Amino acid sequence: MQSFEFKMPTEIIFGRHAEDRVAEKLRAYGASRVYIVYGGGSVVRSGLLSRIECQLTSGGLAFQVLGGVQPNPRVALVREGIREALAFRANFILAVGGGSVIDSAKAIAHGVANPGTDIWDFWSGRAKLEKTTPVGSVLTLAAAGSETSDSAVLTNEDTMRKVGLNTPLNRPVLAFMNPELTFTVPEKQLVCGVSDIIMHTLERYFTKVKEANVFTDRVAEDLIKTVMDASRAAVKDREDYDAMSEIMWCGSVSHSDFTGLSRGKDFSVHKLGHELSARFDATHGASLTSLWGSWAQYVYQDDTARFAQFAERIFGIEASAGTEEERARQGIEKMVAYFKSLGMPVSLPELLGTKLNDSELYSLADLATAGDTKKLGTFHPLNRKDVLAIYKLAN
Ligand code: NZQ
Ligand code: ZN
Repeated sequence: MQSFEFKMPTEIIFGRHAEDRVAEKLRAYGASRVYIVYGGGSVVRSGLLSRIECQLTSGGLAFQVLGGVQPNPRVALVREGIREALAFRANFILAVGGGSVIDSAKAIAHGVANPGTDIWDFWSGRAKLEKTTPVGSVLTLAAAGSETSDSAVLTNEDTMRKVGLNTPLNRPVLAFMNPELTFTVPEKQLVCGVSDIIMHTLERYFTKVKEANVFTDRVAEDLIKTVMDASRAAVKDREDYDAMSEIMWCGSVSHSDFTGLSRGKDFSVHKLGHELSARFDATHGASLTSLWGSWAQYVYQDDTARFAQFAERIFGIEASAGTEEERARQGIEKMVAYFKSLGMPVSLPELLGTKLNDSELYSLADLATAGDTKKLGTFHPLNRKDVLAIYKLAN
């Protein structure tokens, strides 16, 4: 097993009525002036936001609210949030929503702690983040795993770049996770979320690490199988508390790093997907499923045994089913078929409603690799030619 370091500092309050403990728990983290961030209005319509506001008021906590975070969150709204939160003298940032809201809250928290620096400088690598403000979330959508992750992804609408920032300072201090709050998630978001959760583990399962990782592998495989089973139940009945609970908890574990300890990460499919989101505003989970099969087809021969293990442990494709190569390919086909069964796109035309021409594909590949100056991922480090080949396979 390879050496690793792991610190997951987020306190998790999971279960029915979890959000009723917001005021009590925030106070325990020293919050007195809370800046609340939410999205396009689902939490207004459900009454969740006003319940939290009442609770903060009766708990003696001052608050101010910023709504309007959109999926693939934009840096302009974050800058507005930073200005307001600074003027309000916020000492805690509370996200009420899904990944886009939490990522915006994380960025606002960094901006409040570093008022002299433009927030995008941390994302572009021009400035190094060394301090932040505490963040908590009331999660309403199981998907991105931002409630525990060390990542935050923003889109700069001026440059059309969608970029992730990874730092331990992105780990929130608190997550309130009541699966009932996800009952109102539309089916499209549910299946995109499920796909993203699975992808966060797949992108840690297929890495270049060859040493045995018995426990980590089993955690990863069981997480994927659990989410697949629960997703079938949840699609039939979105108020299935048990299914929604499994999906919600797996979402947090999947991107906390726990499913990849000692394996490192690949995350090249995420980077290729971010290009599609930046250019076409594609929904994150859908950008991933539209590419994963093509990526797997392009790279599996680098470690056929690993893909054959995946085929056997996830789909029960045993040695009698063919050569190692045949089994590896069957596993990829089954995974793609599963995404399709959820109604997810598994090609670029399915994602975008049209094929892309060669110059569009080249431009995406060029942007993803910064003009062929950087390689993506670890399983099969991808240069511009590789990225272009994968986009073409998916097209
Ligand atoms: O905005 P509202 O009105 O709240 O509606 C949202 C939004 O339209 C809706 N929704 C959320 N909870 C709901 C609900 N609708 C009804 N009932 C509820 N309970 O769902 C829509 C999508 O929300 P969004 O937050 O964008 O989804 P998700 O959680 O999938 O987050 C996606 C973003 O996270 C990034 C993605 O790239 C994307 O920008 N990611 C963040 C990561 C991280 N920070 O660790 C890792 C991921 O790989 C990912 O890149
Ligand atoms: Zn993701």
